Amino acid sequence: MYTQSFNVPDGAGKTVPLAPSTEDPALQAAFDARIDADGRIEPQDWMPEAYRKTLVRQISQHAHSEIVGMLPEGNWISRAPSLKRKAILIAKVQDEGGHGLYLYSAAETLGTSRDQMLEGLHSGRAKYSSIFNYPTLTWADVGVIGWLVDGAAIMNQVPLCRCSYGPYARAMVRVCKEESFHQRQGYEALLVMMQGTAEQREMVQDAVNRWWWKCLAMFGPPDADSPNSAQGMRWGIKRVSNDELRQKFVDATVPQARVLGVTLPDPDLKWNEERQHYDYGQIDWNEFWETVNGNGPCNKERLATRVKAHNEGQWVRDAALAYAEKQKARSIKEAA
Ligand SMILES: [Fe+2]
Ligand SMILES: [Fe+2]
Repeated sequence: MYTQSFNVPDGAGKTVPLAPSTEDPALQAAFDARIDADGRIEPQDWMPEAYRKTLVRQISQHAHSEIVGMLPEGNWISRAPSLKRKAILIAKVQDEGGHGLYLYSAAETLGTSRDQMLEGLHSGRAKYSSIFNYPTLTWADVGVIGWLVDGAAIMNQVPLCRCSYGPYARAMVRVCKEESFHQRQGYEALLVMMQGTAEQREMVQDAVNRWWWKCLAMFGPPDADSPNSAQGMRWGIKRVSNDELRQKFVDATVPQARVLGVTLPDPDLKWNEERQHYDYGQIDWNEFWETVNGNGPCNKERLATRVKAHNEGQWVRDAALAYAEKQKARSIKEAA
């Protein structure tokens, strides 16, 4: 999954200019007209450089989040409590790998190579969703990640199906369908645990306590502190603001928590009759930024695991390339 802070600059201090492009007024006008008419921009179309750069950054951060997101749950495949849970978890983790592939392919249509993007991730320069830099301590964490993390991802990703960049929008349609399976399998696993022993119920509550605030932070900084959001909205890349999405998530999750029988760890969480929404407490943004900037509990471990997997997969890529070369040589020979 996953989203958050896709408007977080990679590395140090690169920000998107808010001023419109001055590259070519006629092309710019045609682009603006297409955006205003809610049309789609396709890879072969002219687009302002800043739009292209923003999309490359957002889609590659999204792709990185999908494949790094495989790691915390992948740790539980060998320890799933039953064959059924193991099969479900393998399917989910595999889906996340697939999401990474669709998204890297979408980003490649903007003229950046997969090698470049992976190099950014592996060198620690590129960002990914900070939620994956926390440990999965018990089996209940796997359920809570499905329910809350994938649940937050759905809130964030559904509006991306209407993103102005065609390949990204189309990739998101399938991604969202798969995310809703992820959310439901997590919730169902927790429902079963909540009908079990007192120890199982405690395990679920403990996991909810540890993940709740981190999930709220996944939507990214408050609107007032998101200077790039306005430009993203203007370009039809971002459709709904961070705070609005966070509110939708809270409103949807409170009744689910009630059915499950868990408490959400926020004494300020209460229904506001006037606003017709739930009020909630303060998010710890210092912790969020610390984690985004590489100092969360698992940042180093996640990156090291990813780099190791990439290096160990080198022979597969080499073999696939050698096979493709052989096929090509054969078809040239046959055509001759
Ligand atoms: Fe997912
Ligand atoms: Fe995903």
